[in-house]
Amino acid sequence: MIDTIDIKITKTSKSRVSEQDVNNVPFGKCFSDHMFVAEYAEGKWQKAYIQPYADIPMSFALSALHYGQAIFEGMKAYKNEKGEVSLFRPLANHNRLNISATRMAMPEIPEELFMGGLIELLRLDNAWIPSSETGSLYIRPFLIATDEAIGVRPSESYKFVIITCPAGKYYSEPVKVIVEQSYYRAVEGGVGYIKTAGNYGRSLYPTKIALDKGYQQVIWTDAKTHQYVEESGTMNLMFVIDNTVITPQLSDTILAGITRDSVLSLARDWGMKAEERKISVKEIFEAHEQGRLKEAFGTGTAATIAQIIAIGYNDKEYALPPVAERKFSNKVDEVLRNIRKGRAEDKFHWMFPIK
Ligand code: COI
Repeated sequence: MIDTIDIKITKTSKSRVSEQDVNNVPFGKCFSDHMFVAEYAEGKWQKAYIQPYADIPMSFALSALHYGQAIFEGMKAYKNEKGEVSLFRPLANHNRLNISATRMAMPEIPEELFMGGLIELLRLDNAWIPSSETGSLYIRPFLIATDEAIGVRPSESYKFVIITCPAGKYYSEPVKVIVEQSYYRAVEGGVGYIKTAGNYGRSLYPTKIALDKGYQQVIWTDAKTHQYVEESGTMNLMFVIDNTVITPQLSDTILAGITRDSVLSLARDWGMKAEERKISVKEIFEAHEQGRLKEAFGTGTAATIAQIIAIGYNDKEYALPPVAERKFSNKVDEVLRNIRKGRAEDKFHWMFPIK
């Protein structure tokens, strides 16, 4: 049971929702009417409020801008055929945000603040939640350091903000990815396991090079040897070799994806072998050559299940089996959609209804 907190609500005088088709908007560009803000100072959370979506007035000395003390989450709310709204595993996002906060020397966000703000926001912006088959409301909670100070030290003030946007598919088509052998995303002892802004900023240049070569994303490999795969773009990575689902094991270089965990739970529930372990580039290409690599896909909140149709490696491109033949990932995609839309039994209690 989550207690409510005192949230001051200022509603918009005019909703913008009728200006959009919420079931058909590009990802991440069209924001709902309201936002939730909580302010931290002097060692505690001071106040929380919901206001019309707006820019935040800020100093150019804001510490988040200079040293990247900034973390975020990605989560989704779904509307079913009866118009009922549910969040997918929101407490897992809350937990992960606090893991990120600890690593970045930022204050934790109490559950009642996170969930209380989110629930109020969803009630107010209900009309923005898509009801289409592949649509959802993408939710972006984030925490930024707000001290106006150029010295390098943890900020003493923070803002926790939640903004939301209706979203369809992140990738409209299956993706081609290339094995990255020069740059790396994360290193042992680093911050690869959390959702901090710098992890994404540093990925842009290698991704740009990949795009120029005709690939939508890179497959990140380990920083020391570039022999072992880690993630793909902003997603966790999964392979089906023979009948076994294989994904890199969690470590401090891999994000503990909530979709990743859900896919593994479903695989095991269906009696499939699901391995979390080191997986080398060599193993993948050997399996491919022997016709044993059946599926490759990325998992993530934004992308859900993103099919990988080709992998580039050492100036060669390897085509993977047609998406239509991929029994496991197609079934996972469908079952997850059915659970989210309230059409399949939610035996893992993943859905959190918003009353
Ligand atoms: C997500 O999958 O929610 C992400 O955070 C990835 C991306 C849009 C940054």
